[in-house]
Amino acid sequence: MTLRFDILTLFPAMVNAVLSQSIPRIAAEQGAVEYHLHNFRDFAEGVHQAVDDRPYGGGAGMVLKPEPIFKCIRHVLTEGPMPHMVMLSPQGRRFTQRVAEELAAKPRILMLCGRYEGFDERIRLGWQWDEISIGDYVLSGGELAALAVTDAVVRLLPGVLGDEASADEESFGKGLEGRLLEYPHYTRPVEFEGMRVPEVLQSGHHGEIAKWRLEQARKRTKERRPDLLDGE
Ligand code: ADE
Repeated sequence: MTLRFDILTLFPAMVNAVLSQSIPRIAAEQGAVEYHLHNFRDFAEGVHQAVDDRPYGGGAGMVLKPEPIFKCIRHVLTEGPMPHMVMLSPQGRRFTQRVAEELAAKPRILMLCGRYEGFDERIRLGWQWDEISIGDYVLSGGELAALAVTDAVVRLLPGVLGDEASADEESFGKGLEGRLLEYPHYTRPVEFEGMRVPEVLQSGHHGEIAKWRLEQARKRTKERRPDLLDGE
């Protein structure tokens, strides 16, 4: 099954710069995912193809006009089955690994990236949106948020990370009995600038290694993110 993303953005080159690299690229090459980028400026009228205008009621900043976005969405909707509609905005529900898992189960996702002060409210009213925020800070646009969401989702799709690397074992995944941060990792050399790889990891004793990793993950989580343990 291929997950189709339709990403509506005024900066397709910015989005493509990320999706054409590393894991998002591999996911597409494997056929696990397809990216379709749409610039809603292409649907704007007039010589200037304006996508924004001054806010009714006054105030600083510009607002994204409804017409180009409505036209663009209506065009994109003709290209396949009804997508899950995601609007990136600081007003959305908080993006987490659980939300990434939810989205990874969809066949098609449309993502709308805003710019300027925000969307004309009628865009919100036009469709049933899953409004998503990647954190309590304000970005200059939705693109970086859409890319964070896309990256977190595509790496969950079957086969994308390969056999050994399991997304489940990483921080916030389901591995290690739930919501723990990662345990410390080591590779060669066994000693670097006086710092040694813990003996247990060199022992080859799988039971002891698993126990050590779980202890370390719990300790790290307790120290850095005690909020993640609240549900335990
Ligand atoms: N657009 C601007 N800031 C954002 C955020 N924090 N999350 C999602 N979309 C955004």
